Amino acid sequence: MSTTTSPPDRRLSVAPMMDWTTRDYRYLARLISRHTLLYTEMVTAHALLHGDPERLLAYNTPEHPVALQLGGSDPSLLAKACHIAAPFNYDEINLNVGCPSDRVQNGSFGACLMAEPALVAECVAAMSENSRAPVTVKTRIGIDDQDEYEFLFRFIDTVRAAGCTSFTIHARKAILSGLSPKENREIPPLVYDRAYRIKQDFPDIEVVINGGIRNFDEVRNHLHQVDGVMIGREAYQNPWFLREADAVVFDDQHPLPERTDVCRAYAAYVESRFSQGHHPKHALRHVLNLFQGVPGARAFRRHLSENMHRQDTRPGILLDALQHIPA
Ligand SMILES: Cc1cc2nc3c(=O)[nH]c(=O)nc-3n(C[C@H](O)[C@H](O)[C@H](O)COP(=O)(O)O)c2cc1C
Repeated sequence: MSTTTSPPDRRLSVAPMMDWTTRDYRYLARLISRHTLLYTEMVTAHALLHGDPERLLAYNTPEHPVALQLGGSDPSLLAKACHIAAPFNYDEINLNVGCPSDRVQNGSFGACLMAEPALVAECVAAMSENSRAPVTVKTRIGIDDQDEYEFLFRFIDTVRAAGCTSFTIHARKAILSGLSPKENREIPPLVYDRAYRIKQDFPDIEVVINGGIRNFDEVRNHLHQVDGVMIGREAYQNPWFLREADAVVFDDQHPLPERTDVCRAYAAYVESRFSQGHHPKHALRHVLNLFQGVPGARAFRRHLSENMHRQDTRPGILLDALQHIPA
């Protein structure tokens, strides 16, 4: 199967984040920005082959453009995973070569794969053969003491030769033992120049930069150097951050949404998920920070956190919580 879908616009994206970028969060994010590319949580090839694809891969049509992130290091398993994912029509399939967690290392994939560019190239080739959507790679700038520019250069050069034309670079190295995943997102210093240099040395590939980016001035500055910016924690911890995205990054000047309208639309979504048998807490946890920084935000949040975990909770508590926000 060769790539037939056109690549999504990657000028701005929300990063893959386990337990955070669930389909519920993505629905909320899409209510705030029409164009920002949204990544799933990582799904391992192993989980997909042995689990329930519908549960792991189904999403709501309005989430487009949406990219699936896979984890794995076995080309044939990843090929099968892409085959299983094909009917779900993701706009992109991304391979995780950046995650340092123990669980991931034990499965021998994630950031440790940076040391095996030929294997990553094989994975990408096998995935591309089984995907109509473009296959991309998310990586770090290095691992442990393999942190010279030449190491990253060789990795990109080898994987590019297998047909990968878009790389997301989390601009800090991963330290594979001794640091927790959280520390690995905070302690190794950010070196944005490494990603810029890759773009200069490989002008024909798309480079998306990631790591520590928290406002649109920074986004604009990075877009002078690279093709796209990926935002992780800021887009989750402060979802309203995405409000400016369409106008600033995608030149779409449609009227900006109001927070209360987004909240009401999300309440309707939570209601529909509830009617399909999903406890409201799963969707409500993502909306806790929607009103961050405005009057009533604490009471809104408190009302939800005190009520959403009850067994008999109803989705209507979101509209009740909204009463705490002054008109
Ligand atoms: C809770 C959490 C879960 C994450 N899970 C993944 C993951 O599944 N796959 C991945 O490639 N990166 C994962 N990351 C890393 C992010 O995608 C991103 O690279 C990192 O947070 C740096 O971007 P930021 O500084 O904008 O947050 C995760 C980060 C967080 C905070």
